[in-house]
Amino acid sequence: MTKSWTVREVLGWTKDYFRRSGIEAARLEAEILLSHALRADRLELYLRPERVLTDPERLDFKKLIRQRHEGTPLQYLIGEVDFFGCRLKVSPVALIPRPETEELVERIVKDFFSSKISPSWILDLGTGTGAIAIALARAFKHAQILAVDLSEGALGLASENARENGVEARVRFLRSDWYENVSGVFDLIVSNPPYVPREELEHLQTEVKKEPAIALDGGPDGLEAIAHIVSRSVEFLRPPGRLYLEMGDKQASRVRELIEQAETFHLDILRDIAGKERFVRAERLAPRNISTFAEQE
Ligand SMILES: C[S@@+](CC[C@H](N)C(=O)[O-])C[C@H]1O[C@@H](n2cnc3c(N)ncnc32)[C@H](O)[C@@H]1O
Repeated sequence: MTKSWTVREVLGWTKDYFRRSGIEAARLEAEILLSHALRADRLELYLRPERVLTDPERLDFKKLIRQRHEGTPLQYLIGEVDFFGCRLKVSPVALIPRPETEELVERIVKDFFSSKISPSWILDLGTGTGAIAIALARAFKHAQILAVDLSEGALGLASENARENGVEARVRFLRSDWYENVSGVFDLIVSNPPYVPREELEHLQTEVKKEPAIALDGGPDGLEAIAHIVSRSVEFLRPPGRLYLEMGDKQASRVRELIEQAETFHLDILRDIAGKERFVRAERLAPRNISTFAEQE
């Protein structure tokens, strides 16, 4: 006869197993996965520790812990994340939105709110799950957003997320190789592009390697996508429109050079809460200001 397992026993066993697999937050992840398998709140695990798992529950949970042990990210297993107050579906077709990207969104929202202007037209380049586009649509209630990606799978997931978050009427999704199929001008362009240097891809954590390469691979120096996005941004930003980018923590000086080449931006490098230079804010100067700057040379 198979042994019957209670919630308390399963959690204890899984915590130890995850610890041995090198998972840092072993107990927390065990609780999250078990509550997912049982379709229950985490609180319920504490309220009913002697509850015995049914056979189907035990089998479901066993499958989840095996996948987690093999390096599948927790978020792909539970299928969703919270991002800036939005609940988003995630799957291996798109990058799992990161807390740093939430910081970028927070920064954008604060900047616009404090300057008392609200962007009407927003372009999100490389939208993935739609995280940035959806969060901005909820923050700027009158904005129209165009969100592009090269990946059909990501666009399908992002559209579903826009619907679930009630912003589908104001976010349009488009398959495009960066600006290729984009027309019009915008008050805000934002992108968290792939920026990992290609030779570093194979050294990434197992979990990160389960995410799509197209979301990570920034070309030989990691800056291929950023350089392209910066180089054409002037065409798509109407002054005093702003470009916000996320980048790797060692890329600030190269990105600064790329943007300064354009000579049309007022540039700030912004730090994340860990103090790392992770974001760029570039405001497009009006033509009058540009010539004033040129005259000063
Ligand atoms: C780092 S992920 C960011 C996803 C999402 N914006 C986020 O912050 O969670 C980069 C995204 O860029 C997309 N991408 C890569 N190359 C692209 C290209 N040439 N044109 C458009 N999108 C591209 C990927 O499919 C991926 O969704």
